[in-house]
Amino acid sequence: MDTHAPTQALISELPSLPLSTRALFTGYILVVGIGLLMAGAQVQLTHGMADGELGISVDDIVYSYYGNRSSSQLEAKLNGSMQDKAPTAVKREIIMWAQQGAARSGWDQGIGAHFQQYCASCHGVIPGLPAFDSYQAVLPAAEIDTGTTVDSLARVSHIHLFGIAFIFFFVGYIFNLAVGFCSVTKSLLIFTPFAFLLLDVLSWWLTKWFPGFAWLTLIGGVGYSLASAVMLLSSLYQMWVMPLKRSH
Ligand code: HEC
Repeated sequence: MDTHAPTQALISELPSLPLSTRALFTGYILVVGIGLLMAGAQVQLTHGMADGELGISVDDIVYSYYGNRSSSQLEAKLNGSMQDKAPTAVKREIIMWAQQGAARSGWDQGIGAHFQQYCASCHGVIPGLPAFDSYQAVLPAAEIDTGTTVDSLARVSHIHLFGIAFIFFFVGYIFNLAVGFCSVTKSLLIFTPFAFLLLDVLSWWLTKWFPGFAWLTLIGGVGYSLASAVMLLSSLYQMWVMPLKRSH
């Protein structure tokens, strides 16, 4: 007779884990749960405001990854916080110049003089503002906003994939010890966050070139958040509430 067999079978399920293992899993779940909430808050704050309105939307995602290609920073500012800095005719001339590709010849034939007259009193004097004292210096602001660079996409993608795969691995590992889910449901729940993570990162790259894919990013984020929430909450429930119910 193998007297260890029944105990071993029990230990492999969440409701009957020893206290120390439950402490380990619970600590992990709490930190990861708060981490996911913080990640959500951070996304709202950095990307959520990209379209000027609070809350993440498809427009925010398009502005972040694809950029706002109908306008340059120069145009946006001249219609926004810099609108009182030059007469309307001058502003229109500068905006037209930027829209038409910000050519060197245009700069030499008057645009440069406008910047000298209307902008250089601050831009070039106030520290921290871009100094608009030469063609080269103005060019970046005149360029069309094409969103995230491929460089930073590659960097953020690999950090995101490696880091979050780690989180999902342990979340799934713990949830794998849950009782009461049929093995198909359990497997789907465990696999879902990984699938949505891939979809999420893929959608950033697609959106970089095709803004229509921005909604995939939303689906990806919502998908893995939901699947993780189900696993984290049911793991907590099974470790702490179920044992109480069973003992009564
Ligand atoms: C009275 C000072 C002043 C003048 C004159 C001025 N600016 Fe500005 N500019 C600022 C300040 C302050 C900021 C930063 C705050 C902001 O973005 O609104 C700024 C920001 C900008 C930015 C965004 C820079 C960045 O990197 O975020 C652009 C573009 C710009 N100005 C264009 C212009 C142009 C073009 C003119 C001339 C028609 C001009 N500004 C004249 C003070 C000035």
